Amino acid sequence: MRDTTYAIIGGSSGIGLALATALVERGDRVVIGGRSTERLDAAVRQLGDGAIGRPVDTTDRASVAGFFAGTEGLSGLFISAASYRTGAFRDGDPETSEALFAAKFWSQYWTLFAALRHLRGDAGIVLMSGAASARPIGAPAYAACNAAVEGLTRGLAIELAPIRVNCLSPGTTDSELWRSRPNEQRETAYDHWRRLCVVQRPAHVEEQAHAALFLLDNGNMTGSTLFCDGGYTFA
Ligand SMILES: NC(=O)c1ccc[n+]([C@@H]2O[C@H](COP(=O)([O-])OP(=O)(O)OC[C@H]3O[C@@H](n4cnc5c(N)ncnc54)[C@H](OP(=O)(O)O)[C@@H]3O)[C@@H](O)[C@H]2O)c1
Repeated sequence: MRDTTYAIIGGSSGIGLALATALVERGDRVVIGGRSTERLDAAVRQLGDGAIGRPVDTTDRASVAGFFAGTEGLSGLFISAASYRTGAFRDGDPETSEALFAAKFWSQYWTLFAALRHLRGDAGIVLMSGAASARPIGAPAYAACNAAVEGLTRGLAIELAPIRVNCLSPGTTDSELWRSRPNEQRETAYDHWRRLCVVQRPAHVEEQAHAALFLLDNGNMTGSTLFCDGGYTFA
């Protein structure tokens, strides 16, 4: 086992769990975070010896500080944790606008702030946005929130260097985020996506994890947003 440990907030499911799996398989250690201890325990059982799980809620700064306590010398950090609703501007609903920013933008901002003194000087960080930043399908606050994460990435890459900061911007991906929704809603969204993107299918979580791993590993990548979106944003 290598002497490298990565923190993956959102590592109990979906893209985060796929990344944790890839890291453990190559000999790294992972500390995974999520709200549900049940899901964390199941993920740690699946990952084996190289993994430990710690409960955390990224919308609660005290909880985030507790997650990192005693964890020193992290080689990298990936944040896919976010739980939110999206909606139309005309609805005027704070849940799909301000609460969305709290759940996806400010949670990543403060999680990285709490992580900072636990990271190695040459660490890699990957934040999470979404392809709606560049090609929205309505839900303008969601588009803005993802674009804000990408802007934050560029600003952090300047300020935190030589720590590298990049952003993964996925298109629709077949993760628990969709699998936990009613079949009809998911299939409607997947069919819509098949028509909109070039590869004509949702991404697999392993494909997103592969993209995140590239951003964590490649010493020449910083300040970038990688669109792993099957060609959606240019089509
Ligand atoms: N899947 C897609 O189609 C897609 C497309 C574009 C962007 N994204 C972005 O990808 C991220 C979601 O990743 P995913 O698709 O892999 O979803 P997922 O399978 O639902 O995984 C989300 C992970 O985050 C954890 N989590 C959620 N809210 C949290 C919170 N407040 N504090 C701590 N942990 C939390 C979940 O565990 P608990 O529920 O136990 O906390 C779980 O481990 C989001 O940022 C989303 O905007 C996804």
